[in-house]
Amino acid sequence: MNNMGAGIAITGCGSAAPEAILTNYHLAQMVETSDEWIKTRTGMSNRHIASPTESLSQLSAVAAKNAIAMAGISATDIDLIILATSTPDDMFGSACKVQGLIGATNAVAFDLTAACSGFLFALINATQFIRNGVYRNVLIIGADVLSRWVDWSDRASCVLFGDGAGAAVCQGISDGDRLLSYGMYSNGSQNDSLNLNYQSDCQALVDGIIAQQGTYHPITMNGKEVYRFAVARVPEAIEKAMFHANLTANDIDWLLLHQANQRIMDAVAKRLKIPSEKILSNIAEYGNTSAASIPLALDAAVREGKVKPGDTIAASGFGAGLTWGAAIFQWG
Ligand code: ACO
Repeated sequence: MNNMGAGIAITGCGSAAPEAILTNYHLAQMVETSDEWIKTRTGMSNRHIASPTESLSQLSAVAAKNAIAMAGISATDIDLIILATSTPDDMFGSACKVQGLIGATNAVAFDLTAACSGFLFALINATQFIRNGVYRNVLIIGADVLSRWVDWSDRASCVLFGDGAGAAVCQGISDGDRLLSYGMYSNGSQNDSLNLNYQSDCQALVDGIIAQQGTYHPITMNGKEVYRFAVARVPEAIEKAMFHANLTANDIDWLLLHQANQRIMDAVAKRLKIPSEKILSNIAEYGNTSAASIPLALDAAVREGKVKPGDTIAASGFGAGLTWGAAIFQWG
């Protein structure tokens, strides 16, 4: 297609979460912790955990179908699918599986890995394809099942994570551009703050040649480092994005942050002088769902009627890498 010079609009969103709910009280039976500690330090009460029969691809497909329905198009209209995940069902990627499940037969599909910044990075990637006229309808999905990779004996990290999927449809439009500004950032020198590392076992193939036959080991995290990083870099990234969009904090209707910790969200809002009522938060119900957290929170807010067409949203994702980014867009 030749759609050169198109703007982008986010016209639909959807989400899905596993049925099983792991409460703070359940966690207190597993490790030395309490509902009170988890709630005050993180704002979390529940998180949803994928059962052995629930896959990342299935959750993604449900979220995607809901987003496509809200956008008022059909799966065959989708040109591109970007699945942001760090926990694919298949190391070769799960985006094509999702394409098959939803019947998006005209789409090309690929995975993108940027931990909890993944959905935001997918949005910014989708924008490039739409603005340069290559594609008109792009489905972006953020999905993770970190419960597969949590060290369930580590109380400092196991209380934080849950599973879920969220999706959005981005469409090319000729009347304006509703993504007002964005920025993406990385700092690999802090890479060891948060990892899900491969650990190799050795397998001798023939004399002198040894292959690695290991697996990934549970999440390791320096919580304090990640906390400090987030409260410093996220407001900075949003301020820069507001500057480029020629907006001030007063122009922002909603703050849509990666749901890592309620205290991080509150600190970011305070630093930006944005009232806490403008924070979109569902952390109490889902915990930190990594790449899914931003679209899960957006979908809930849209379906509750909180976020209305034309509202200005400042979004920011941050996480392992370290990676972070911000985008300011108008909904609908
Ligand atoms: N229950 C009870 N006590 C606990 C628990 C728990 N679940 N976890 C830690 N503690 C203890 C610690 O052992 C420590 O005890 P001590 O003082 O006797 O040593 C005490 O509580 C305080 O620990 P801190 O680590 O200082 O607690 P803090 O207030 O920093 O909260 C937390 C920890 C919630 C992890 C916080 O640092 C945080 O949210 N960091 C950001 C983490 C994050 O966002 N990670 C994901 C990024 S997204 C991604 O890419 C996946």
